[in-house]
Amino acid sequence: MSQLPILPDTNPVFDSFRISIAKRLSDTLPLTVEQAFAGVDYGKKGEDFTVALPRFRLPGKVAEIAATVIEGFQPDEWIESIVLDRSFLHFRVNTTNMICQVLNQVNALTHLTPSGQPEYGSNDSGKGKRVIIEYSSPNIVKEFHLGHLRSTIIGAFLANLYKACGWEVISMNYLGDWGTQFGMVATGYEKYGSQEEFDQDPIMHLYNVYVKVTKDLETDPKVKVEAARWFKRMEDGDEDVLKKWHGWRETSLEKYQEAYDQLNIKFDVYTGESNVSKESMDKALVQLQDMGLISDRDSAKEVDLNKWNLKAPIVRKTDGTSTYLTRDIGGAIERYERYKFDKMIYVVGAAQDFHLAQFFKIVELMGFPWAKNLLHINYGMVQGMRTRKGTAVFLDRIIKKAGNVMHEQMKKNDEKYAVIQDPQATSLEIGITGIKIQDMAAKRINDYTFNWDRMLSFEGDTGPYLQYAHSRLASIGRKNPQLLPLPPTSQIATHALAQYSNAREIAFLLGTYPDVVNVALKTHEPSGVVTFAFKLAHAISTAWDRVIVKGEEDVEKARAKMYLYECAKEVLAAAMRLLSIRPLERM
Ligand code: ARG
Repeated sequence: MSQLPILPDTNPVFDSFRISIAKRLSDTLPLTVEQAFAGVDYGKKGEDFTVALPRFRLPGKVAEIAATVIEGFQPDEWIESIVLDRSFLHFRVNTTNMICQVLNQVNALTHLTPSGQPEYGSNDSGKGKRVIIEYSSPNIVKEFHLGHLRSTIIGAFLANLYKACGWEVISMNYLGDWGTQFGMVATGYEKYGSQEEFDQDPIMHLYNVYVKVTKDLETDPKVKVEAARWFKRMEDGDEDVLKKWHGWRETSLEKYQEAYDQLNIKFDVYTGESNVSKESMDKALVQLQDMGLISDRDSAKEVDLNKWNLKAPIVRKTDGTSTYLTRDIGGAIERYERYKFDKMIYVVGAAQDFHLAQFFKIVELMGFPWAKNLLHINYGMVQGMRTRKGTAVFLDRIIKKAGNVMHEQMKKNDEKYAVIQDPQATSLEIGITGIKIQDMAAKRINDYTFNWDRMLSFEGDTGPYLQYAHSRLASIGRKNPQLLPLPPTSQIATHALAQYSNAREIAFLLGTYPDVVNVALKTHEPSGVVTFAFKLAHAISTAWDRVIVKGEEDVEKARAKMYLYECAKEVLAAAMRLLSIRPLERM
């Protein structure tokens, strides 16, 4: 094969085709390979790559420029054909070479990952850098609302994504385990607490107690004073209260961990608002004071951010206790001291945009050089989960319900249901996939309505459909054992696939996956990965009765087809894993 120029940060396989286009352009036009390369985009609607000629701002008419490129064009191992379409040049890559190279690359980077080794699609752009990603962060004693679910799902995706791009990731759960609400529960627990109920369902019980005392507040203003007093005792380190609080926290945390396990989501660090030390907050306040940023308001202390339209948030209450904001400031300072992060991401709903803007502004004003490396990844609201007023949602119940609804759904098909090995576990996994896909299918900032029927249907772009696509791919090997094991890649007749446009389409899509990952890293959007997974699933489904393995008499050809599907399965699985989904082998 002819030698291609080498460009930094490019993928050795798929980008070769792009580089060959760039080389062609730079051979015929006054452009460097780098300049030309930047102009090679993916084509639309069946075109492989497209170059918009006007973008180069070359002298002369587009038609003439195009003619220079096309003139004397000879197809080679990279490019099959060039077509001029208005001011665009469409390049079609060499089918045989593309299929062969892409599949071999996928195959070479498959199954190398038991210890977290890079797999196909990953890269090392983040090598040597450390990111803290804070997500989920529920409030113990309050409900786990769908906003927390979104943070959990999107955050887990981001953690996987940064890892796939070579970053060292510290995933962190910052529990809402401190604040006046604990004073409320401490107040209410004397009246409404029950060990028995707590043991049965700690999260629910604490929430119920919280709801009851909050109700008392309406008739009895003393409750508020009482609660503030309890919280003050906590902040002052009163051992009796802290012991109780500690028990509530630990037990709730255990429950949460069970749920996270079911969701295939892990945290490297569980911390919480309670972990932020008084010293670091005091120090921060002194610094703010010295910098003249603090003013007093009724013996509370506030930071004047009016200049930035961020109001004047309170950082120390009248009784000397801390606020949510103070804890975030102190927490960030501590995290930097401890982890020296290159970047820290907060995955928190858009409802807290203002809070995070205040917080980021304050640490910026304090002059911390790392303040510019804080990033708020926000997302829209989820509607439609609350059934009647006052019925809160809880994570374990959402998960259970997803499993149950899916199970009912699966029972409707007797035949299929009969062959499923562990229907309970399978439906739970599919149900969870449904929730995750629904959550990540659109741009983060969009609100959406939680809808069991839609997310758990097998029709349309849903989680169950994706699992189905994967398990169908997994079945090929089981149904054609005589073709296995596949010979070494050099002996697989991938050229036999070139005659199938569906095979070409699949291979091309597989080739784009590393870019899908890169784009996601820039946008912090899971939706691109979801879209990719569905495109691939659709392409596979269309290929299914055109590129047929079973019954193919030519064994060489049958093996090549199987190889294509095996590679497709690996990449679909990689995309699903990136989305924190466990791909099912059977369903
Ligand atoms: N526990 C908070 C809540 O539920 C979310 C925490 C977000 N993270 C942060 N560092 N403020 O509202």
